[in-house]
Amino acid sequence: MRIDVVSIFPSYFDGLTLSLLGRAQSTGILDLQVHDLRDWTHDRHRTVDDTPYGGGAGMVMKPEPWGLALDQLAGLPGAEPAARPTVIFPSPAGEVFRQSTARELAEREHLIFGCGRYEGIDERVFEEAATLGEVRLISLGDYVLNGGEVAVMAMVEAIGRLIPGVVGNPESLVEESHEDGLLEYPSYTKPSIWRDREVPPILLSGNHGAIAAWRREQQLERTRRRRPDLLDR
Ligand code: ADE
Repeated sequence: MRIDVVSIFPSYFDGLTLSLLGRAQSTGILDLQVHDLRDWTHDRHRTVDDTPYGGGAGMVMKPEPWGLALDQLAGLPGAEPAARPTVIFPSPAGEVFRQSTARELAEREHLIFGCGRYEGIDERVFEEAATLGEVRLISLGDYVLNGGEVAVMAMVEAIGRLIPGVVGNPESLVEESHEDGLLEYPSYTKPSIWRDREVPPILLSGNHGAIAAWRREQQLERTRRRRPDLLDR
C-alpha cells in the first residue's frame, strides 16, 4: 500500500518509522511518504493560509498549495478507477473513524491524507480532490484537536497494522477490542499471585472450553459496563 501524508508539520510523523510500521516500510509492504505542504507554495514566505471571506476568527488554508500537492500525488484526473487514490481529510466535522473504517481503508492501494490546520481548508479543495479520487472527511471523535496530524497518526497506525504481513501473528488481530464489536477480555501473565492478587483460577485450569466461555462472558460484561452503546449497535 502507498500512503502519502501532506502536512505543514511533517516531523510529527517521525514516530511512524518506529516499531511495526517502521519494519513494514523497510520490508516494502508499506510505502509511506510524508510531504511538507509548503513545498507547493511559490512566494517568499511559503504562505499556506489567509483570512476568511465573510470575516470571522482565525485563518483558512489557501487552496493553491493543496491543489498542486493533490495533482502531483494523485496523478492525472480521469485515471483508471483502480489507480485512483482515496483522499482523506481528518476533520472534527467528518464521519467517525471506527475499526470498520480501518478495515475498509486497509484494502485500498493508495491513500492520501491531507492535514488541515487553523480554521480548516478552503472548501473548494474538497470538491477538487473529488475529481481525483474518493474523498472522505473523517473524525477521530467528538473533540477538537489543533490540527489533523495526531488524527492521521492514529488512522495510519490503525489501518497499517491491518495490512497483511505488518503484524507478525495475524491471530492477535482477531482477538482484540472492536474486532467482533465487543471490548477485549482481561489478560494476565506470571506470577499467578502478585501482591496478594490472584489470577482468576479458571485461567490455570487447562480447560480450554471453560476458558473460552469465561473470556466471552468477560467481554460481554465489560462492554455492558463501559460501552453499552456498542451493544445497541
Ligand atoms: N482535527 C481537529 N479535530 C479533529 C478530530 N477530532 N478528528 C480528526 N481531525 C481533527
